[in-house]
Amino acid sequence: MGQNFRSHSSISRETGVTDPIASAYRLLEASLVHYHGRAVGTIASLDAHAPADNYSDCFIRDFVPSALVFLLDGRPEIVRNFLGIVLRLRDQQEEMEGHRSLPKVMPASFRVLGREDGSEELHADFGDRAIGRVAPVDSMMWWLILLRAYVRATGDSAYARTPECQRGIRMILNICLQDRFEVFPTLLVPDGSFMIDRRMGVFGHPLEIQALFFGSLQAGIAMLDPADADNQQVIRQSVKRLAQLTEYVRNYYWLDLAKLNHIHRARTELFGHDIENTLNIYPESIPDWVTDWLPEEAGYLVGNLGPGRMDFRFFSFGNLLAVLFGLADERQSGHIVDVFQKRWDDLVGMMPVKICYPAMEGEEWRLLTGSDPKNIPWSYHNGGNWPALLWALVAAALRTGRTDMAERVQQVAMHRLARDGWPEYYDGRNGRLIGRRANYNQTWSAAALILAQKFIEDPGRLDLLRLEDREETA
Ligand code: GLC
Repeated sequence: MGQNFRSHSSISRETGVTDPIASAYRLLEASLVHYHGRAVGTIASLDAHAPADNYSDCFIRDFVPSALVFLLDGRPEIVRNFLGIVLRLRDQQEEMEGHRSLPKVMPASFRVLGREDGSEELHADFGDRAIGRVAPVDSMMWWLILLRAYVRATGDSAYARTPECQRGIRMILNICLQDRFEVFPTLLVPDGSFMIDRRMGVFGHPLEIQALFFGSLQAGIAMLDPADADNQQVIRQSVKRLAQLTEYVRNYYWLDLAKLNHIHRARTELFGHDIENTLNIYPESIPDWVTDWLPEEAGYLVGNLGPGRMDFRFFSFGNLLAVLFGLADERQSGHIVDVFQKRWDDLVGMMPVKICYPAMEGEEWRLLTGSDPKNIPWSYHNGGNWPALLWALVAAALRTGRTDMAERVQQVAMHRLARDGWPEYYDGRNGRLIGRRANYNQTWSAAALILAQKFIEDPGRLDLLRLEDREETA
């Protein structure tokens, strides 16, 4: 074929690690992907026995914690190289037969292929090779959020103002703001279109996508040049949508004891404008577990919301991003972090952070995952514990003034994660076992630990995640 994968020497698992942060850095360094001699990303896993071939790609979402570490370490050029490459890759997407034109989304992942003649080629996966052919909706949003973080860290707003970047930002916002069939200000997506990239009953309006949508709107508004006539309409639309989205999510996704009581006693089948129970959520749909589990004096944003459908499951990443980006208001943010504190064993347990709670079992698992053996109860996406989310929990705890909690979370993860060889995920109700089919040497597990440590050492660094406020160009 004349092409082979530019392979990375898979590093072996370290034993007897005494300095977890140093060990995490060794993994991060070894995971760097180069293109034309320049570092442009990090490979998802350096486990030579990874179950799927694309773990040797650079995933857009997996690169985020690596990128934030590079920005804080004064290596912004890696992030800039990455941003430029992903922007260009968008144009590689092939037209699908029967489609007039595809919206140019960004790939889930890419890799560098070496040719026999010594040249290099970039290959991207737009969901056309991914398991289950899932659409990577979150990639373009992460790209936008990362561009914002790059500008914040470097002050290089001139880069975001280049015609290519401005076109890219406009294009992303336009795809998100396109009129389709929805009647809500939230974004409608297919199943598995974000970090949970398999069928998991997360189609419709999943929280994580809404938090990323919120972040993207904020980042886009802050970076588009308002003096450019091409931008004015999209800025106007984005500002309006941001306000609607914020109000809607804070109102309708919010669940606390008062709200649960309200739903429990709600009237249904009401027609008209000013009615309670607008979405016609049936009290009968409240699962047993939630009544016992929901703590007093706390609350969270539900996992998904649509007509007659409230997914009561607690999804950690969506909630944490809502805290970090400000989609949740201040009171709600405090309450969300309280849920982690009050349900510590369930959500932090022996390895932070539980991806979602509770796991689906039996018929529900069969119907909503399609009997996925990797997503059996309390494993992988279905209630597994993911160290990759550590940074977000630590950051949210710090953001809401819970320094003790941030440190405690980090202590739980620190030595065990390094000793276990940086697994991708853990299994069991409390994350006691290494994930049955988890990779070792998973880059974002290591990057997340480093990033969390950096935030703990200096919470001022959280500024990197502040998306709003226009930068003044020099
Ligand atoms: C799995 C995860 C996904 C991640 C990828 C690479 O598919 O579900 O979120 O990006 O692995 O690590």
